Amino acid sequence: MARSALLNVMVQAATKAGRSLTRDFGEVEQLQVSVKGPGDFVSAADTKAEEIIVESLQKSRPDWGFLLEEGGEIKGSDPLHRWIVDPLDGTTNFLHSLPIFAVSIGLERQGQMVAGVIYNPITEELFTAEKGSGAFMNDRRMRVAARRKLADAALCTAIPHIGSKTLGRYLEEAKIACANAAAVRGLGSAAVSLAYVAAGRLDGYWEHNLKPWDMAAGIVLIREAGGFLSDISGGDRMIETGGIIAGNETMREAIRKNIIERP
Ligand code: IPD
Ligand code: CA
Ligand code: CA
Repeated sequence: MARSALLNVMVQAATKAGRSLTRDFGEVEQLQVSVKGPGDFVSAADTKAEEIIVESLQKSRPDWGFLLEEGGEIKGSDPLHRWIVDPLDGTTNFLHSLPIFAVSIGLERQGQMVAGVIYNPITEELFTAEKGSGAFMNDRRMRVAARRKLADAALCTAIPHIGSKTLGRYLEEAKIACANAAAVRGLGSAAVSLAYVAAGRLDGYWEHNLKPWDMAAGIVLIREAGGFLSDISGGDRMIETGGIIAGNETMREAIRKNIIERP
């Protein structure tokens, strides 16, 4: 498969950052046993990966700006394009040596998400999509799953943790989901969850309170894999509201109506 110049630039940045994360992931396994734990080391790994991505993308597209999880906004002289980057999505997994995390790079053009790359350097799974050109996993075309019934579906959402403001809401939703779906999972990485829905591994996914960098690339993957997305109320303000539901058309609506809105 011939990849566009744009996707090549994004893949190069993601794989370069991925190499750095892989090296640091090896270290984390050693640090796990120390009393202090690998916390500071992981935030340094995160920042380093982001710097690698910025440097790599700036080299190819010097005029484009950034929205970065760690570094915030960097204005570019080109008002049309903006990279939206999460250098390490799934930090808690990384911290605990769980190999479910990814680099996520999305491109926004005139306010629309138009390209996305999600890369898990441990599994070496590279998910790419560009508007109008389809979605791919390691160069194999991806399609969302065709299952239409919740009873057959493997769903994914967030598992609330200490300090979570949405604990009650998730528990209510999880109760309905567990009672009505074939499986409910929490992967601890929004980017990986969206990539897995695009790949047809998961039938549906929802989450509240995400940030733009958690979902930017995933939005393009889902759409280009023939999937559907909405915010929690069924509109398309995912980036603005932080709420997202993904799946095929029927599954997305089944999650919204039966699990989130509830009859
Ligand atoms: C987090 C992950 C997690 C989601 C959180 C995010 P981080 O991102 O995507 O799955 O539930 O809301 O903040 O901190 O690992 O980059
Ligand atoms: Ca992150
Ligand atoms: Ca994130």
